[in-house]
Amino acid sequence: MEKMFDVVVVGSGPAGYVSAIRCSQLGLKTLCIEESHSDNGKPNFGGTCLNVGCIPSKALLDSSHRYYEANKKLSEHGIQIESLKLDLKSMMKRKDDIVDKLTGGISGLFSANKVESMIGRGKVTDINTVEVTKPDGSTETIDAKNIIVATGSKPIEIPSAKYSKHIVDSTGALCLNSVPKKLGVVGAGIIGLELGSVWSRLGSEVTVIEALDEFLPMTDHDISKETLKEFKKQGLDIKLGSKVTSTKELKNSVKVKFESNDQENEMEFDKLIVAVGRAPNSSNVISDELNIEIEDGFIKVNDFCQTSVNNIWAIGDVVRGPMLAHKGSEEGIMVAERIAEKHTEVNYDLVPSVIYTHPEIAWVGQNEKELKDNNIDYKVGKFPFAASGRALAVDQSVGFVKVLSHAKTDTILGVHVFGPAAAEIVQQALISMEFGSSSEDIALTMFSHPTVSEAFHEAALSANNLAIHIGNKKK
Ligand code: FAD
Ligand code: NAI
Repeated sequence: MEKMFDVVVVGSGPAGYVSAIRCSQLGLKTLCIEESHSDNGKPNFGGTCLNVGCIPSKALLDSSHRYYEANKKLSEHGIQIESLKLDLKSMMKRKDDIVDKLTGGISGLFSANKVESMIGRGKVTDINTVEVTKPDGSTETIDAKNIIVATGSKPIEIPSAKYSKHIVDSTGALCLNSVPKKLGVVGAGIIGLELGSVWSRLGSEVTVIEALDEFLPMTDHDISKETLKEFKKQGLDIKLGSKVTSTKELKNSVKVKFESNDQENEMEFDKLIVAVGRAPNSSNVISDELNIEIEDGFIKVNDFCQTSVNNIWAIGDVVRGPMLAHKGSEEGIMVAERIAEKHTEVNYDLVPSVIYTHPEIAWVGQNEKELKDNNIDYKVGKFPFAASGRALAVDQSVGFVKVLSHAKTDTILGVHVFGPAAAEIVQQALISMEFGSSSEDIALTMFSHPTVSEAFHEAALSANNLAIHIGNKKK
């Protein structure tokens, strides 16, 4: 292999592989190094997202939702199924096939874009050097004008519930080989809710143990209130203010002790998923001699993802900000373009978030608490899906759209959705917010009828007390 590159990217997750492709598109000679590989020596490109994150979890969310609908909901539509059977092995195979297709697809994208790749563990040893330790233990030194660290993150382990036969992380939770009768989940965050929902729909009795008293504190308070009610209705037993104090492995199950309101409780589960957050992969990735600061495990970078060494950059989960695939990819594009002397930026004020439960939860911009904390006067427009013809027709009338706009300028400051197609509605909102829209701009836009997006239109109308299909606030 030629040893001098314009750019060496360490890690091929959605931050790294996207960045490598854009670097090459911009005429930079680029190498992407990936540590993970299969037993037959094939690189596992795509990182957490494609292999054990976004994609497999969404595949199982979809399959489990179809099973749940067939099992519990289709009879309401006059569709009777005589002998419904769950074939978990086929469900898992479908998920694995999707993962194989997408990760294999990255090899094709690399070839098409002339990105070179190498299997091994990369370490930045000097300002222009990456040392790669290959699977056979040999090392190779690569010279690079620029280095992009995109090494991602891994699940956090807690001392009171160490991973074992019956205690698994999110990766283990994506490949259980039978449906646990009783499933415990530690952490009512995004993974806990998404994967808790998967197994609950497939028949598990799910108990979620969450340390905080507040449910989904990062969401708008109306969303947090409404979603807690809905998930409890769906059968998730969510125990807030509860901390796991110890676990004990039994032959076929695990005993979990946890404290809630100073009371000690004990439950036994067939499996326990621990989903209490993720930690950045920053250790032993950059030589200490370079003096690049690591803050709470995250590689310290400026707004353009540049470290204190000008030609060394870091992107994705290994740097500050939300641990989301799209945030990492946009950082990867920005860095590639900055290396090519363009002036690209990431708008960190408009990073969308989605929780793929059913219904979905999605938001962008500020919520009511943040606006209050920032002393910004705002207006609220809200529209329930129960008043949307399309939502009723498709049997998805739970939830609402909430639009927050500036009290004086009417500029949209935040959009929060719990309900059908929440992610897509928030994406529409985000595009309009990128162009500085007001709620009146949305109100004056024509929406197809009947669509669930009309709820966004009505929420924007409601911000100015002009909603048509619900009552408005008294003036
Ligand atoms: P990663 O995807 O973690 O990739 C890092 C890569 O670097 C890995 O392939 C790793 O093997 C490699 N690597 C690490 N160290 C080295 C080294 N020293 N040398 C060489 N290679 C190395 N986000 C969303 O936006 N939407 C979702 O729906 C979503 N769902 C998720 C579901 C689950 C169950 C999980 C766990 C996460 C989910 N995420 C989701 C988060 C998303 O997966 C991450 O934010 C994203 O993968 C981060 O991208 P990254 O490129 O920074 O890191
Ligand atoms: P999270 O940060 O979303 O949630 C972790 C939860 O665990 C929090 O509510 C926290 O209070 C709780 N917790 C922490 N320690 C605890 C303890 N000892 N006992 C009980 N509860 C405890 O983290 P999660 O769910 O692990 O996901 C990690 C990250 O992966 C997410 O923050 C997100 O960035 C990404 N992700 C994104 C998805 C998406 O975009 N749809 C889907 C899944 C993951």
